[in-house]
Amino acid sequence: MEKLDTIVQEALQAFAGVTDAAQLEHAKARYLGKAGALTELQKNLGKISPAERPAMGARFNSAKDQIETALTAQREKIQSAKLNAQLALEALDVTLPGRGVHAGGLHPVTRTLARITALFHSIGFEVVDGPEIETDFYNFTALNQPENHPARSMHDTFYLDDGKHLLRTHTSPIQIRYMETHEPPIKIIAPGRVYRVDSDATHSPMFHQIEGLWVDERVSFADLKGVVVDFLRRFFERDDLRVRFRPSFFPFTEPSAEIDMSFGDGWLEIGGCGMVHPNVLRNVKIDSEKYQGFAFGLGPDRLSMLRYGVNDLRLFYENDLRFLKQFN
Ligand code: DAH
Repeated sequence: MEKLDTIVQEALQAFAGVTDAAQLEHAKARYLGKAGALTELQKNLGKISPAERPAMGARFNSAKDQIETALTAQREKIQSAKLNAQLALEALDVTLPGRGVHAGGLHPVTRTLARITALFHSIGFEVVDGPEIETDFYNFTALNQPENHPARSMHDTFYLDDGKHLLRTHTSPIQIRYMETHEPPIKIIAPGRVYRVDSDATHSPMFHQIEGLWVDERVSFADLKGVVVDFLRRFFERDDLRVRFRPSFFPFTEPSAEIDMSFGDGWLEIGGCGMVHPNVLRNVKIDSEKYQGFAFGLGPDRLSMLRYGVNDLRLFYENDLRFLKQFN
């Protein structure tokens, strides 16, 4: 029976070292289970002389009590530790600063497009758009651009595999689509993405254009100049901005001009324009004797570069947040 104290000591120690509920039950089995140390000892109780039995019985019971108390205590300890761990895990520190929602911002070119359309809208132009995947007819033919025109060559234009469609090379097809479905007076501005096989510091395979068209009974080249010059001065907020119309050629306008604006010591080309070619009006069944109009196409990417002082067009399309964040 001297073993009794040893068993109690061992059991208390074993329980104390256990931190897992299942392991605690294994430890319990080793002392209190059917083949446990205490149970084994209990079997010997019968062999003890009747005189000693009550005292031994009392000792045995107290030993068993001690072990059971320790077991219960450890069970509770493990349970509360588990609860505490869970509470700690789910703890909500209401004093932490909020994470906030990361606010995105408008792309600089989007800002420019919005600014341009707002300025034209303020003088009565309706903002319209058209598809980026076009047909040869709208992109070239209807715009009086002949079969052998260099812009139609494979290395300048992205053609789709079906041989019928292409990525529009300019926003001018929107003129045709709009005039097909509307009667003059027509006064529209049409921003959008356009595509060409081109890539360097001032050319990206995807870039933007903004198309303008005004068709009515008495619209002249003087109106074209007035509208474009006034727009540029308002866009750059410079009343002394100088604008030059340099004679040029476009199949869909006659006469045609390049639009240059003063920049530093020289001039910078920012778009093309002209009086809508009578053939174009005929293609959309508008009476070219009665109506005339002007059209222009501007490069908003170029205008963004000038307005924000960016020297490489490709920066706009690399999506580097360090660059883009500066505009918001
Ligand atoms: N579509 C021409 C281009 O991509 C730009 C242009 C020139 C548009 C003259 C016009 C215009 O509307 O009248 O180069």
